[in-house]
Amino acid sequence: MYVGRLVGRSVLELWVRCRYDSDICLGELLVVEDEERSKNYLVRVVDIKYGADAGDGWMERTAGNIIRMDMANSTYNMSDREFRLYKIAVCIPLGCLVSGGIEKAKHIPSHFSRVRKTTSEDYESMKSLMGDLKVGVMRSGGHTLNVNVGIEGEALHHHIGVFATTGMGKSNLMKVLAGAVMESGRYGMLIFDPHGEYYSGGAGRRGLIHHPLAQDKLRVYSTRRLQRMYSTIRISYTEVNVEDMLSLYEFTQSQLEMLYAARALFGREWMREINERDGDDLYYQFGERFHETTINVVKRRVERVMGYEIISRDPTISITRSVLSSLHSAMVVLVDTSGLHEGEELLVSNVLARAVFEENRRIYREKPSEFRSLPSILITIEEAQRMLATPSGTIFPRIAREGRKFKVGLCAISQQPKLIHREILSQFNTLFILGLADKRDREALAYSAKQDISALENEIQTLMPGEAIITSPFTPFPLPIKVHMYEEYLSRIRRKRAVDEKQEFIDEKFF
Ligand SMILES: Nc1ncnc2c1ncn2[C@@H]1O[C@H](COP(=O)(O)OP(=O)(O)O)[C@@H](O)[C@H]1O
Ligand SMILES: [Mg+2]
Repeated sequence: MYVGRLVGRSVLELWVRCRYDSDICLGELLVVEDEERSKNYLVRVVDIKYGADAGDGWMERTAGNIIRMDMANSTYNMSDREFRLYKIAVCIPLGCLVSGGIEKAKHIPSHFSRVRKTTSEDYESMKSLMGDLKVGVMRSGGHTLNVNVGIEGEALHHHIGVFATTGMGKSNLMKVLAGAVMESGRYGMLIFDPHGEYYSGGAGRRGLIHHPLAQDKLRVYSTRRLQRMYSTIRISYTEVNVEDMLSLYEFTQSQLEMLYAARALFGREWMREINERDGDDLYYQFGERFHETTINVVKRRVERVMGYEIISRDPTISITRSVLSSLHSAMVVLVDTSGLHEGEELLVSNVLARAVFEENRRIYREKPSEFRSLPSILITIEEAQRMLATPSGTIFPRIAREGRKFKVGLCAISQQPKLIHREILSQFNTLFILGLADKRDREALAYSAKQDISALENEIQTLMPGEAIITSPFTPFPLPIKVHMYEEYLSRIRRKRAVDEKQEFIDEKFF
């Protein structure tokens, strides 16, 4: 569809005079057809201005005339309205469309080049760049195109950030991503769900359990009583490490030393030993190295953790072993921590994330050939600003810094990316940016994104729920997308997989 003609203005900013009736909107993608060079430029609308064919002050004078007519109860007739009035679309060039995809635009298109809206054919050559885990369709401003868009599996262990104000569609996106992971069968995904919204989706919504591949590809752990297909979260005390305690409490230097000394002395039994021995006994066990108060503080904290409902006194059970085995078999593991208080929730996520990181690192070092065939694993954490406010300390910042080498990626979901430490934020190579109301959050992302998104400030502010921008070194430019609604995605793959209506009916009755 014809939009208008190019009127300037520099290699980094193209201005288009739009037809009076063109309904151009922010974020829209347009094609500038340079006939002289036989090249098509893809551009993105980043601002829209008023234009009129008249001298200075004409619009104000005309408005004055209209008001005068209004007050006299008559109408103002403007002659040639369609040609005197127009809009200017301020665009940034995304690149030239070439057969292999898109290349950086280093020229300016010729004067008065014709400008039109994009169609799905324009993206035909970019298909291979649109990722194998599809989560939505290409969007041009407010409307969608029939082009599926997603992220590369490769992007998973290069870390992902999902950032949006509450209600903008983070959880829905994660469900679609988990569904795509199940469909692909090539990656593992460990999801921590403190709000209990992924399992069945809540009122009127659908969850991961409704995915047609859930039986084979999903494992669920919870402390809540769920309808079916889940195991209870039980961590053996022997699976808790000293580092996991650091996510729960702040320790002084000597308290820390005592913890590490206990670990060295008692091995995997360190928690039980601290818990069961009395203060005096410990004092002598450690060769009188630690003050009585140090011992008491540590003892009290260990006791409290040993008392958590999720902690089992049975040293033979191992949640980490079963979770790891599912992840290495390219499954999605959902850990529903919604029934837990924050301390327990942090402990569960630290123990499991650390187990994944350490096991993959071990395989990387000891069995390189086995490592090559391991699927990448993505660990997703909600309210990630809680775990990533400092650049070190617990396992999560460590995974952000070192995980990619061991095929362990972190997916941080947050409504306040500004609270995530800058160094950690810059580790996230792929960002899903949904509607973000706070300017400081947008600035934090602009600073750390791997592509220049500074010009998208206006667009990000006007995103509707489910509308997102994906920026990543794997995408040709920051891609505007509309994320699938999870329920619609489910119906589509159900249709595709020809699951008969009867099965749906049974599921409906089940819940
Ligand atoms: N892709 C989408 N398409 C249409 N509407 C959406 C989409 N994603 C989310 N929404 C709407 O926004 C609401 C909030 O989504 P949710 O994923 O729970 O947001 P968040 O986790 O960011 O708070 C949903 O109930 C739905 O109505
Ligand atoms: Mg949510």
